[in-house]
Amino acid sequence: MKKKHSYSSIRWLKRNFKDHFVKSARLNNLRSRAWFKLHDIHLKYCLFYRGMNVIDLGSAPGSWSKYAINIIGRNGHIISCDINTMSPIPGVYFLQGNILKEEIFSKILNRIKNKKIHLVMSDMSPNITGIPSIDIPKSLTLAKLAMKIAMLTLYQKGTLLVKVFQGLGFLDFLNKLGFFFNTIKICKPNASRNHSREVFILARDFKK
Ligand SMILES: C[S@@+](CC[C@H](N)C(=O)[O-])C[C@H]1O[C@@H](n2cnc3c(N)ncnc32)[C@H](O)[C@@H]1O
Repeated sequence: MKKKHSYSSIRWLKRNFKDHFVKSARLNNLRSRAWFKLHDIHLKYCLFYRGMNVIDLGSAPGSWSKYAINIIGRNGHIISCDINTMSPIPGVYFLQGNILKEEIFSKILNRIKNKKIHLVMSDMSPNITGIPSIDIPKSLTLAKLAMKIAMLTLYQKGTLLVKVFQGLGFLDFLNKLGFFFNTIKICKPNASRNHSREVFILARDFKK
């Protein structure tokens, strides 16, 4: 039977067809166009260095984890988690499951044990409906969870990079982060679509 596409998925397909970053990702054998967002942020703010330990939330299909492990090298660790599957990346420990479930949350914490985590990054995004009153609170819930994991695992002076949709609750979230981190920056990488509400908050220098 022929698969029917909804109006929004047809719009998404058309936009992706034209998208320069999608083409570039394909040409360069990258797992997704999200690679360019992280690259942009890393070029500006130098997120990664050799030997660091990283948690990657909402990691599938894996372009951020792959980007990070290439710089971190063998002496560092990456723990990645996504509700979807992700094909393996050497050096990356992947956990499949819904981060909103207590069981997955605990599995991540168990895996970390006493490791010092230097960076928690979250590119998690809910399934987008296009309705702000639904999408924004869902995005905030995911971002708050990323913050909670950061609070529990980051070493003093560590970094949190978290995607969130701008809208109701955004400023409160930003203020909350300001209590726990000395520096807060809002990043809108080139590959992030102009019409999209997504921004990345880069919170550095965790006060613990
Ligand atoms: C934009 S994609 C991430 C792309 C990824 N950073 C990359 O570079 O390939 C957002 C991801 O968030 C994941 N996600 C959304 N809600 C989640 C949840 N509750 N638990 C785990 N992952 C979730 C989705 O499955 C999706 O793969």
